[in-house]
Amino acid sequence: MLNGKRTSVRAHPMKRLLDVLREDCHLTGTKEGCGEGECGACTVALDGRAVNACLVPIAQVRGATVTTIEGLKGRHPLQRAFAEQGGAQCGICTPGMVMAAIALGPHPTLDEVRTGLAGNLCRCTGYMGIYRAIKAATRSSKEQEGRTKKKVASNRSSVDGGTKPKRRPSL
Ligand code: FES
Ligand code: FES
Repeated sequence: MLNGKRTSVRAHPMKRLLDVLREDCHLTGTKEGCGEGECGACTVALDGRAVNACLVPIAQVRGATVTTIEGLKGRHPLQRAFAEQGGAQCGICTPGMVMAAIALGPHPTLDEVRTGLAGNLCRCTGYMGIYRAIKAATRSSKEQEGRTKKKVASNRSSVDGGTKPKRRPSL
């Protein structure tokens, strides 16, 4: 599966996932920096884990689920946060940063962010804008969770008339 769609390509088994994405699938959001696993610009999610697509031969991807930056459809809170918090300047590292940040889960600590993004290099931002963006996206997802919980609670109380469930008398 590629970005939620069943996908098949004809390619040499040793062709890099990065090249298959860009050349065969025309998904050019995934960038090439170093081409040798040093910069993280090519990071995509492979079965939910961040990998450097420049190091993965397509033969290893058979039957797997791949998500690229295009798979987020521009709607992920991290994408907005990177733009708002100065986490993206030239933008070359940004798709890889976002994909690596997503793999950290919804509420990473600053230490987890620093460690998790250690393999993603940025020559423009000095990293602080990137850390701010991840923090802001984490905050907004926590707020969203809070709103959802409140909504569920208020729906429940309007369904059951706002009363607490009656306890069964003990026998
Ligand atoms: S292009 Fe893949 S790690 Fe740099
Ligand atoms: S924004 Fe330019 S390399 Fe990170």
